[in-house]
Amino acid sequence: MKGVVLAGGLGTRMHPLTKVTNKHLLPIYNKPMIYYPIETLINAGINDILIVTGGSNSGDFLKLLGNGKQFGLKHINYTYQDGEGGIADALRLAHDFADDGPITVILGDNIIEGSIKPAVDGFLSQGGGAKILLKEVEDPERFGVAELDGKRILSIEEKPAHPKSSYAVTGVYMYDSYVFEIIETLKPSERNEMEITDVNNAYIRESKLTFDILDGWWTDAGTFESLFRANCLVAGKYE
Ligand code: G1P
Repeated sequence: MKGVVLAGGLGTRMHPLTKVTNKHLLPIYNKPMIYYPIETLINAGINDILIVTGGSNSGDFLKLLGNGKQFGLKHINYTYQDGEGGIADALRLAHDFADDGPITVILGDNIIEGSIKPAVDGFLSQGGGAKILLKEVEDPERFGVAELDGKRILSIEEKPAHPKSSYAVTGVYMYDSYVFEIIETLKPSERNEMEITDVNNAYIRESKLTFDILDGWWTDAGTFESLFRANCLVAGKYE
């Protein structure tokens, strides 16, 4: 299993914090944001990792992470996303790296308390398709939201005004190689991005998307409020 950390985008929602640096290099308590998703992958036993970055400060990732010695890695792979085409557009750049095998994708601003290892193991034993992780939240309208029927996932809506559940789709996705075929069929959304929600709905249409509910806390860190929340949650871990 290989891992992909998506850390591109221009972070315009977070100006002026992101005017001179990439969002994923901002501090969360005592480490740069991108450390957390990398550690989440490594703790799940995934050591072959691709960082997808972009923007004018992309060179700083190499300066910060190098070959990943501080994580016990021998090597890290990097690729560069032009512009801000969305999560699915960034993932397209992992096609060669994936080499037709399964991948776990994590958004560079997703901070997770617990382990994704049980989900990764579960995905590997399901024999293809895709798996996502859900988390119950108080503000589902900020996220992709799953409509559920017991253990079945019926649909996902991206930032719905009237969410059909309180289960947010977290930024951890496991895919087989079919994901790259799906990406080629996508059209840009209203916010002019290639949406990961459209990828997941394509798997749902084929009855090939499973989900787990994530244990422990989870937050993104892509707004001022959630960045602050992420800092508090991580700091709380050390208290
Ligand atoms: C993205 C996804 C959304 C998901 C969220 C998790 O949202 O589009 O479905 O719930 O990440 O962090 P964005 O951060 O692009 O608003």
